Amino acid sequence: MVFIKRLVIEGEHELSGTIKIGGAKNSVVALIPAAILAEEATIYNVPAISDVKALEAITEYLGSDITYKNETIKINNNNCQNKEITNEFSSKLRASYYYMGALLAKYRYVEISFPGGCNIGSRPIDFHLKGFEKMGAKIKQEGDKFIIEAKNLHSAEIFLDIASVGATLNIMLAAVKADGTTYIYNAAMEPEIVNVAAFLNSMGAKISGAGTSEIKVQGVSQLGKGIVEVIPDRIEAGTYLIIGSLLGKNLVIEGIIKEHLESVLTKLHEAGADFEIKGTKIIVNKTKKLKPVNVRTLVYPGFPTDLGQPMSTLLTQCDGESLFEETIYENRMRHIKHLNSMGADIRLFDKKAIIKGKTNLVGREVIATDLRAGAAMLVAGMIAKGTTIITNIEHILRGYEKIVGKLSSVGAVIKIDEI
Ligand code: EPU
Repeated sequence: MVFIKRLVIEGEHELSGTIKIGGAKNSVVALIPAAILAEEATIYNVPAISDVKALEAITEYLGSDITYKNETIKINNNNCQNKEITNEFSSKLRASYYYMGALLAKYRYVEISFPGGCNIGSRPIDFHLKGFEKMGAKIKQEGDKFIIEAKNLHSAEIFLDIASVGATLNIMLAAVKADGTTYIYNAAMEPEIVNVAAFLNSMGAKISGAGTSEIKVQGVSQLGKGIVEVIPDRIEAGTYLIIGSLLGKNLVIEGIIKEHLESVLTKLHEAGADFEIKGTKIIVNKTKKLKPVNVRTLVYPGFPTDLGQPMSTLLTQCDGESLFEETIYENRMRHIKHLNSMGADIRLFDKKAIIKGKTNLVGREVIATDLRAGAAMLVAGMIAKGTTIITNIEHILRGYEKIVGKLSSVGAVIKIDEI
C-alpha cells in the first residue's frame, strides 16, 4: 500500500519563539561526495533532510563506512570501491553528479547515470563535462549513462560560460588530484563553494580563490583526513525570515551568517520589513504595511534563485505592484497558478511575474511542484485564511529539515498527514 504524504496547514497563526537554522543543503550535498576523496572524514552540522539520506546510500553502496549521528557524519573510505552509480541512485537528486568529479579524481574512471533533482528547467551538465574533457577525460554516453575516463587527468584553464555552482564544484573536485594547476575562470562565488574548498583543503588539497570568480587548484597526489562544519542554510533562513515578516512576533531566527543573506535582507528592508540583526540572530516581526518591490534572481551575491519563489508569496502581501523575475532557470514559475488559485493576483509573462497586492489568500489544496515552489506554497498556507493542503511534499522534505517541528515549536498549526 502506498501512502501519500500531505502537509496540512491552518493559516494566520502568529509565530514567536526561536527557530534554529540547520546546515546548508547545497553545501552538504557536495561535501558528502567530496568526502570520498579523504582517508576518513567528519562533517558536522549535517541537516536531517532526505537528500542527505540519498547520498549516504550512494557512499555506502560504494563500500565506504558511513554513520550519521547527532548531526555528524563520519566516513571511512578504507573499503571504498569504484562502482557504477546506477539510475536507481543518481535519479534521487541533482547532487549525485558530484560523484563524477570525486570519483574521477580518485579512480580516473566513473560510470554514472544522469542526475535527478527538481524539474525547474532543462538543467544540462555540459559545462561539467567540457571541464572534465579539458582535463584529459574521454566521455562516452550510453543512454542516460556517462562513462568518463581520464588515464592522464591533468590541469587545465577552464572558463565557464555561466558561473555554475555545480560545474565549479565538480571541476574543483576533479582538479584536486590532477597533475598540475587548474584555473577555473568565471567560477561561481556562492558560500557553498567556499565551504567545500575548505573541506578539501583540510584533507591536504591546495585550493585558493574560492568565493571569487577565479579559483586556482594545485593538484596533489595524496589526500588525508578531512574535517568540516556545514555552513548555515541561507535559503532555509531566508524562508523563515519571509514567514516572520508576515507572521512573526519577536520571532528569532538563530544561527545565521549575515553576509550570506545580504541581498535578501536588503530586499526585505526595501519592502519595509521589520527585523533586527543581533550577531548570528535575526529578530523579525510581522510588518503591518509592506511596500511593493522588484525582485530579480541572480547568481551570488545577487538575490538567490532558491528564494525567488517563497519571496513571490510575500510580494502578494505588498501594497501595490511588484515584479518577480527569474533569470537562472526556465521553470521557476509553476507555483504561480497555485498562488492565484488561493486568491493572489499574478500575471505571468514567461519568466516574469507581475504581482498585484495586497490580496487576501484563502486555504486550498495545492501542489509542491518542486522544492522551492513547495516553500512558496508553505508560506502561502501559513498566511491564508483556513486550511491549506500541500501534496507532493517529498520535494519540501528534500531540502527543509524538521520543517513541521520547527514551525510548530513557534506557534504554527501544521502537520504531515498520511493518507
Ligand atoms: N547550466 C548549464 N550547463 C551546465 C550547468 C549549468 O547550462 O553544465 C545552467 C543551468 O541550467 C542553470 C544555470 O546554468 O540555468 C545555473 O546552474 P547551476 O549549475 O549554478 O545550478 P546547479 O548546480 O544545478 C545548484 C543548486 C540549486 C541552486 C543553484 C543556483 C545543488 C544540488 N543545487 O544547482 O539548488 O538553485 O545551484 O544557486 O546544489 C534548490 O536548492 O532548490 C536548487 C535548485
